[in-house]
Amino acid sequence: PVLVVDFGAQYAQLIARRVREAKIYSEIVPHTMPVEKMLAKEPVAIILSGGPSSVYEEGAPSIDPAIFNTGLPVLGICYGFQTMAHALGGTVGRTGTREYGHTPAQVDGESCLFSGTPLDQAVWMSHGDAVQAAPVGFTVTASTAETPVAAFEDTERRLFGLQWHPEVMHSEFGQNALENFLYNGAGLEPTWTPGSIIDEQVARIREQVGEAHVICALSGGVDSSVAAALVHKAVGDQLTCIFVDHGLLRAGEREQVEEDYAKGMGIRVITVDESERFLTALAGVSEPEEKRKIIGREFIRSFEAAQRRVIEEVGATGAEIKFLVQGTLYPDVVESGGGEGAANIKSHHNVGGLPEDLKFDLVEPLRTLFKDEVRAIGRELGVPEKIVARQPFPGPGLGIRIIGEVTKERLDILRAADLIAREELTAAGLDETIWQCPVVLLADVRSVGVQGDGRTYGHPIVLRPVSSEDAMTADWTRLPYDVLARISTRITNSVEDVNRVVLDVTSKPPATIEWE
Ligand code: XMP
Repeated sequence: PVLVVDFGAQYAQLIARRVREAKIYSEIVPHTMPVEKMLAKEPVAIILSGGPSSVYEEGAPSIDPAIFNTGLPVLGICYGFQTMAHALGGTVGRTGTREYGHTPAQVDGESCLFSGTPLDQAVWMSHGDAVQAAPVGFTVTASTAETPVAAFEDTERRLFGLQWHPEVMHSEFGQNALENFLYNGAGLEPTWTPGSIIDEQVARIREQVGEAHVICALSGGVDSSVAAALVHKAVGDQLTCIFVDHGLLRAGEREQVEEDYAKGMGIRVITVDESERFLTALAGVSEPEEKRKIIGREFIRSFEAAQRRVIEEVGATGAEIKFLVQGTLYPDVVESGGGEGAANIKSHHNVGGLPEDLKFDLVEPLRTLFKDEVRAIGRELGVPEKIVARQPFPGPGLGIRIIGEVTKERLDILRAADLIAREELTAAGLDETIWQCPVVLLADVRSVGVQGDGRTYGHPIVLRPVSSEDAMTADWTRLPYDVLARISTRITNSVEDVNRVVLDVTSKPPATIEWE
């Protein structure tokens, strides 16, 4: 892989995505990882990300300078650029001039990084310190009004650096600079394609699973569907999908899954109705992390129970069912604190919520992938478009969209409101505009309303339409007012106990997409 060394800002994710868009596999590692451990991953190039610090600060994150003597091509970005300059004998200083946002830069068209791009280009800057003198052996290849050394390179040692952020779209030719580094500077080939990922994963799954029977936790969403399709391609009839109806589903979801998979994709699906189990376990619980952990735990218990059904209906023996497929994605891993060094933001049910005494070995073929990559793989595998294009829906379902205790009555209210919102968004042709639109019930909040001739004292429903590229960040979608009005009117007219509809106008960060 290309290793993206994370210096503790949010840029590493984006850099990793951009490298993958250039069809080269990349992984994120923390800057604290020893160089030997990095080398053990057999990297083909290194990218040092931006970070929030100053290289001269006490305890500033640094990297072992040995990395520059490995012979591997290295690209330093922003803080990574300054660390590189500092480590190799250049000078970095607090120049007093800061550059933030759009900045015009002049680049050297003969250089490796900027070949084929205009000499004047807009770049995205965000720095207080600056490289004042490049290390010996480096050529300065770009400058801005405030920053004479805005990029440098030593093509012989294959070391490159950029002060600005090529990974953000505001840097006009940022992707070109990254690709120039990868293809020309590092000599890599763009071979990481959906086809190659499928071949690699199929081989890996076959090796892991052998002759054993595999069950898959199918949610009906893109991730578990593509995971199931991959495993089905690898081991065919050894796969049985289990669809757990946890009672936290949206209207019509169970019927749709049974129809799409069994009939549409030829994959064996067994549905188990476990709604009583989940509702009982969730009774009296309103703390979000506790809910998530309970749902995660009950999911696994449900699969264990479902084993019996598989044994009866498929004829596998209990001992043969060793593996559980899950559609865990890279952002789930990173946000659940599994991406070495990241903070635990919330426990995604398929990662953080697993019980310790799990009786299955996990098969997680999408664990290194972002959502759009999963969709591309799904299309390549022939998964029907209506499944591949489906908007994300969280595994814990409506359980984390009821703010407060989850009860059957509240689920019915939320299901009715959610159905109306989905119908109207679809009718307005907005399904592709939005990433998803959680509908949330503030079950512990009541407000006064007036309907007919009387006073009401009902709950608010929150609409949370978001636009996003990968769910790591998101913006609230500016939906047309008339669509919002129709949703609001229909919900308050027809959903009992709801007398108010409100719109969530917060981006992520600072909020998350879901409310819990
Ligand atoms: P947040 O709320 O973390 O959501 O901004 C990011 C994306 O992940 C979905 N989500 C989940 N998906 N299990 C899942 O499979 C979960 O526990 C879970 N929690 C959130 C959410 O809908 C959004 O698309």
